[in-house]
Formats: sequence, structure tokens, C-alpha cells
Amino acid sequence: MNSFLAYMGGKSLLARKIIPKIPEHKCYVEVFAGAAWLLFKKEENVSDVEIINDINLDLITLYRVVKHHLEEFIRYFKWVLVSRDEFYRFRKEVPESLTDIQRAVRFYYLLKLGYAARIKDPSFSIATTSKPRLNLLRTEEELSAVHLRLARVYIEHRSYAEVFARFDKPDTFFYIDPPYYGCEDYYGEGIFDRDDFMKLRDILASISGKFILSINDVDHIRDLFRGFRIETVETSYSAAGANKKKHVNELLIMNYEPVES
Ligand SMILES: C[S@@+](CC[C@H](N)C(=O)[O-])C[C@H]1O[C@@H](n2cnc3c(N)ncnc32)[C@H](O)[C@@H]1O
Repeated sequence: MNSFLAYMGGKSLLARKIIPKIPEHKCYVEVFAGAAWLLFKKEENVSDVEIINDINLDLITLYRVVKHHLEEFIRYFKWVLVSRDEFYRFRKEVPESLTDIQRAVRFYYLLKLGYAARIKDPSFSIATTSKPRLNLLRTEEELSAVHLRLARVYIEHRSYAEVFARFDKPDTFFYIDPPYYGCEDYYGEGIFDRDDFMKLRDILASISGKFILSINDVDHIRDLFRGFRIETVETSYSAAGANKKKHVNELLIMNYEPVES
């Protein structure tokens, strides 16, 4: 199945190249979950336990509300308009002053109707060529499948280092998809910076579980992770506002040799 979110840096296209490389494991952990495209696209029954984690509390609240309070979430949407004014009214709200359900609704609305699914400073997206991405009549149908898929998934809200400390075991598999090198602040200020690549590398050198890290192909990253297995894969994305797809290389960095299934 697909994720229910279009997300900046989401791996909707790359997932099919990564999934065959996932080794046997008991516990599956997405450390930087975002829209968790890999979780939604992979088979559920290949993992005994599944955990998704992200530092963004709006996002994690959305996952928890879709998992535990779907009916309330849907009910809220029955009275929500798709309009520029409503978008900026939501944007002005302070997430900490809202209930969990309101907070989840706000984040989902801004992500669905914002230009290029930007997390920081979203702006209302309108085009003469496509319908709005939020179709209130289809929300219930779309989210019911997600609600069922999340039923046995643990949802964590921690910074990445704590996730490794807590869940590392020989039969744990970590999928690691941090912000791109050069785009460290795209998901918020002060949550991930350039030095974190080195911290991440040091953690990865010491874990007993297996991992795949996906990242943009830049010399600094190749150099930093040179002790690991590095594969190059081609992917594409549409630059915001452009119709044409751009082809780029990404790196998959691993601490094992994959046997592709
Ligand atoms: C590239 S996106 C992940 C995209 C995801 N793989 C997908 O398919 O949608 C990176 C995510 O890392 C999260 N993040 C940034 N810093 C973090 C940190 N210190 N600990 C945990 N998550 C973090 C961001 O909130 C963002 O959702």
C-alpha cells in the first residue's frame, strides 16, 4: 500500500529499490519516519515488531490519532473547508494550544494543501491544472486502510540517538532516512545539523543490528561512510512546481551484504 502523506524527501519511488535489500530481522525500525513510505510499501508479516519514530511532534500526533481516534479525526473534517483563508487560519494556530485531534487535523490539512508539502512555512497551493489534494469525501476511505496498517506498529517520538540506544539488538533492522546533506534544516531548526552525520556514523559503527541508510550522493558522505558498503541507486523526483522529473543518484549505505529477494 501507499503512505497517506506526500512528504518532502518521502521515499515513494526509492522504496521498491530498498525493500528487496532488507535482511531477515525480527524488529523493523524506521528511525526518521516522515511519511514512512517503506513501512507502508513493505510486507507487514516479514517483521515481528515494527516501530516508527520521528522527532516532529505534529507528525507523531497525526500517526497516533489516525491509529487510535480515527472516527473523531474524520468527524472533524466534515466541517473543514478547503480554502486559502482556512489554510492560513490553521497555520496561525499554535500546535501546543490544541488538543491532539485538533493538532493532527491542522498538520494533515497544512501538509495536504500546502505547496510542495513543505514542513517549514507552508503556503497554500492552488493550480489551474489539478484538483485540491484534500478530498473530504475520500479521506475516510484512505485513512481506514492506514488505521488498520498502524494497528500493530509502535509509534515513538525521540531523537535518533535514543532510538538506537533503546532498540539495537542483533535481529533489529534499522531503516535510516535523515535529512539530506545540505538540507539539514528543512524539517525544522535545531533538530538535525551537519555534525549529526558524524554522530550518526559513529553510532552505526557500534550497533549490533543491521541497517540501510539512504542519503544524497555527495563526496562528504561517501568519505564519512567509507568503512561501510555503499551502493549507488538512481531515483527521480519532481522539483516543486516543475512538470519534468529530475534524475539523481542516491546512496544506500549498509553494514551487510544484501541478498536480494
Ligand atoms: C527525509 S525525511 C524521512 C522521509 C521518509 N523516509 C518518507 O518516506 O517519507 C526525514 C525525517 O527525519 C525527521 N528528523 C529530523 N531530525 C531528526 C532527529 N534528530 N531525530 C529523529 N527524526 C528526525 C524529520 O522530522 C523528517 O520527518
